[in-house]
Amino acid sequence: MKKTSIVILAAGKSRRMKGTVSKVFQLIAGRPLLDYVNEVAFKNSTSGVYYVCSKEVKKYVNNKFLSAKTIIQKIPLGTAHAVECIDKLVQKKKNDVIVLFGDVPLIKNSTIRKLIKFKNSSKSIGSIITFKPKDPFGYGRVIVNNNYVENIIEERDATAEQKKINLCNSGILICDSAYLFKSIKKISNNNNQKERFLTDICKIAFSENRPFTFFSCEEAEVHGINSANQLIDLESKLQKILKNSLIKKGVNFIQPSSITVSYDTKIDRGVIIEPHTIIKRGVSIKKSSKILSGSYLEGCNVGKSCTVGPYARIRPKTIIDDNVKVGNFVEVKNSKIGKFSSISHLSYIGDATIGKNVNIGAGTITCNYDGIKKHKTIIDDGVFVGSNCSLIAPIKISKNSSLGAGSVITKNVPISSLAVERSKLLIKRKKK
Ligand code: UD1
Ligand code: CA
Repeated sequence: MKKTSIVILAAGKSRRMKGTVSKVFQLIAGRPLLDYVNEVAFKNSTSGVYYVCSKEVKKYVNNKFLSAKTIIQKIPLGTAHAVECIDKLVQKKKNDVIVLFGDVPLIKNSTIRKLIKFKNSSKSIGSIITFKPKDPFGYGRVIVNNNYVENIIEERDATAEQKKINLCNSGILICDSAYLFKSIKKISNNNNQKERFLTDICKIAFSENRPFTFFSCEEAEVHGINSANQLIDLESKLQKILKNSLIKKGVNFIQPSSITVSYDTKIDRGVIIEPHTIIKRGVSIKKSSKILSGSYLEGCNVGKSCTVGPYARIRPKTIIDDNVKVGNFVEVKNSKIGKFSSISHLSYIGDATIGKNVNIGAGTITCNYDGIKKHKTIIDDGVFVGSNCSLIAPIKISKNSSLGAGSVITKNVPISSLAVERSKLLIKRKKK
């Protein structure tokens, strides 16, 4: 059995995106494009994952994907030149190379597995993945001859007739390693972009009577990202895919098109998510909870049967246990909230540990920052915090105590005590 090396091309200038950083760092559903491609590459490679990239991408890859090998392509002279950059590194004998693009992020594992099998069963020197997009503009058009690939013509080189072809090149291909590196040398930059196109290998193979085979996959999988608008398109496609799979599991989205989720969002069945909720990375929500309109959640776990929102902001490192209520205009950060506790209105809870059956009155603030350092607030089981209290951290309120409304609490409060801090109310008659 042949082994498979995978090379990811990510050295392009991202000129058409008009951004300041490489497009492979752009996020879809909260995750960089490159991370999607990397995951598929590592799942399918049996002989190394190689990146051809710029300096900035190399730094990112070396820090994050430790066993990937990187090589810098100083000047992006085209996809053929990019692959040629790894010529010396990749094994040639009994080896196939798969080329993935850093800007084609949603290719599925199963499709790459199919590509490997397909090439073997069709006994060809190489295969490409094609697709039939609604709008083929910008993609290479595939010229077919007798079920083989005769040539691939890029948009800018295509005649009006060729532009009508809607069988397009995904950019993803597999090829026998020795043949790939031998043939690449023959590829010139004789085209309108003056780049050396990897796609020309199909023309060479066809003329040498070793033609490439092809099969098609869904458009969403191989949607490429060359412009800001294509990024927006792909985001909305991925949002639909992610939400549909949650809906199938029994999550109830009200007006799903107004709700944003992330690639790693975990929601149990029976959960209701109301309109205009935004769920960023690292969120899990357990069954039967409700996230009411306009809430914003990031890096947090919400337990069973909770109500969050409307308009709540739950920030990273927050753990909300079962049956908790977090109401409107409440912000919670880096805090734990115990079972059956309630923070119903207009509060800021930061760096706090709150026990079970705690009531936090409207307008309560944990004053966790003294201008230099952050400090912890501990509120034990059964505590009642009256409205509009300020708790100056570090501070501990022990079990079953109550804090009077409007108090500024500066000292620890022992168990089963009442703490009230208020200046004397003065009422005088007004002079006329
Ligand atoms: C490419 C294909 C096109 C296909 C489309 C699918 C070629 C010549 N064309 O076009 O047939 O329909 O993808 O999305 O392959 N890169 C480098 N070094 C370079 C040039 C590019 O690393 O010198 C990288 C880019 O960063 C990118 C990938 O290769 O990740 C593809 O390059 P890009 O310029 O985006 O090609 P397209 O014009 O989209
Ligand atoms: Ca592209």
